[in-house]
Formats: sequence, C-alpha cells, structure tokens
Amino acid sequence: ARKIIIDTDPGQDDAVAILLALASPEEIDVLGVTAVAGNVPLPLTQKNARIVCELAGKTDVPVYAGCDAPLSRKLVTAEHVHGKTGLDGPVLPDPDMALTDGHAVDFIIDTLRSHDAGTVTLCPLGPLTNIASAFQKAPDIVARVQEIILMGGAYFEVGNITPAAEFNIYVDPEAADIVFKSGVPIVVMPLDVTHKALVTKPRNDAFRALGTKVGIAVAEMTDFFERFDKEKYGSEGAPLHDPCVTAYLIRPELFTGRHINVEIETGSELTLGMTVADWWRVTDRAPNAMFMGDLDADGFFDLLTERLARL
Ligand code: BDR
Ligand code: CA
Repeated sequence: ARKIIIDTDPGQDDAVAILLALASPEEIDVLGVTAVAGNVPLPLTQKNARIVCELAGKTDVPVYAGCDAPLSRKLVTAEHVHGKTGLDGPVLPDPDMALTDGHAVDFIIDTLRSHDAGTVTLCPLGPLTNIASAFQKAPDIVARVQEIILMGGAYFEVGNITPAAEFNIYVDPEAADIVFKSGVPIVVMPLDVTHKALVTKPRNDAFRALGTKVGIAVAEMTDFFERFDKEKYGSEGAPLHDPCVTAYLIRPELFTGRHINVEIETGSELTLGMTVADWWRVTDRAPNAMFMGDLDADGFFDLLTERLARL
C-alpha cells in the first residue's frame, strides 16, 4: 500500500476523502492526518479530523494539529460553504480520541526523514501552509517526497473564492508558490475536475442506502454542503473536491490531464492565488505538475460507494 500523509482542513469533502482512504488499506496506508487552518480555524479542523477518524472506526491513526494561519496573510475561512463547525450536516459526537502530541509540521518532517526516500506521498486537501512550512524548516525532506497529490486551483472553471482563484490556493498563495516550485512531482485536482464529481440525487441516495453510520453521515454532509454550489453554480449537487485526491491513489485511470507548467500568482491583488496553468503549452516554462482536466464521474462514484460500504 502507498504510504501517505493527509493534510486537511475538514470540511465535508475532506471528510469523505479521509473516509475513502481509511476504507482502502490495500492501496493506501495513512501514516497520519495533519490538520491545517482553512475552511474553518484550526481548533475546529483538528477536531473534525478526529471526528472523521472515529466515524471510520480508525482511532489508531495519529492526528496532529498544524499551522493556525497562512505563512504571511490573515486566514480566510469558508463557513459560507461548510457551516459554522466546518462539518455541518450530520450530528456526530465529540471525539474521544486525543490529538497526538507534537506539531503537524514536525510530524511531516520526521516521517519523511524516517522512511526511505521516495516512499511517502503527501496529500494536501486544504491550504498548503503545513507543507510549505515543512519544506522551509527542513529543505532536506523535499527530495524525499514521493509525490504530492493535491486538491487546488482551477483553469477553465476559474475561481470559487474570487473570480480568479480557487479557495485552497487563495488562502495561502505564498505556500502554494513554494510547493509548486519545489521540484516534487505534483498531481493537481483543480475545480475543472472536482466540479464534475457531483453528488446528484441518485448518487446521494446510494450513500444513504448503505444504511451504515458512515453512509448516512456522508449523505447528510452532502445534503448540507450542496446548498452553496446549487445556489451559486446551479449545479446538480455537491462537488466532492477532495475525494478526487484519494480516489486517484486507488484508481488513477479515472482521471486524465496534462503535464504542464503551473505558476501561482502572489503579487496581483486582482488575481491573487490564481493557478496560471499553461494548458496549451504556449510558454517554454518547464512542466512542474500533472494538471488534471477530466474524470470518469460514474466510475468515481461507484468506487466511493463501494469503499464507504466497507466502513
Ligand atoms: C476546496 O476548498 C474547500 O472548501 C474544500 O474543502 C476543498 O478543499 C475547494 O475549493
Ligand atoms: Ca479541503
């Protein structure tokens, strides 16, 4: 199984991404979950991460709290999408499982140093603050990362927090810039892909019909989470952004994209956090990311429902 660290700001879609990973031990070995400030402040994201591990019945996965603010900006949150707790929808108990001692950034550093180089993959599902902080604090770990598979950015679909930017990149563009310039192989799941992973009514009914605690909780998360996108985009249901990352680890053939150059806008106020993706290869800038553009949505939901049923 592929060894990964999930770096996350749960978030209903983060929760589903984590559940999918924890339901798939044959393909994915979750070494730890690191929380970052994003959709809601850190005290809530780290708590939500523990709630999700407990929901999955996997209380042995260490959960660490990380950075509570972007590298050099004030935190922007997204309660308008995720609700006040970040995980609005189902009523889930406060977690019994404790946070693991230590800072998420140190866990990332220590884990990369203690495993063979090229055997640990990072899966960021929120702003890239923890990852960039680890790279700054311990530059020796950068070359040891197997791959980064992240949710963030947009090309054709442009922005969901400003007209130009996707939320995760916008919240900490300096961190994103560090990560995209790091030289680590990167796979990007932008809005172009995740807006196709829509939980339509029949797909949500399939989650609910599992009849399990997990299936019902996921259906209730989606019921809450879809309001924003239905109102804003007139879309058919909630986009499951972050689960695209963990689905890719299990069935990469569900996704197609291009290996291209992606630069992060950190200067302009108007387009701050834009992922300037050279989709048409009109520059000679070196490719630094596999930027996904499409997914097999039916295959994705079949996989997700089948795996959630295992929890
Ligand atoms: C991303 O932002 C958050 O609201 C979601 O959890 C996802 O990671 C989508 O833009
Ligand atoms: Ca997220």
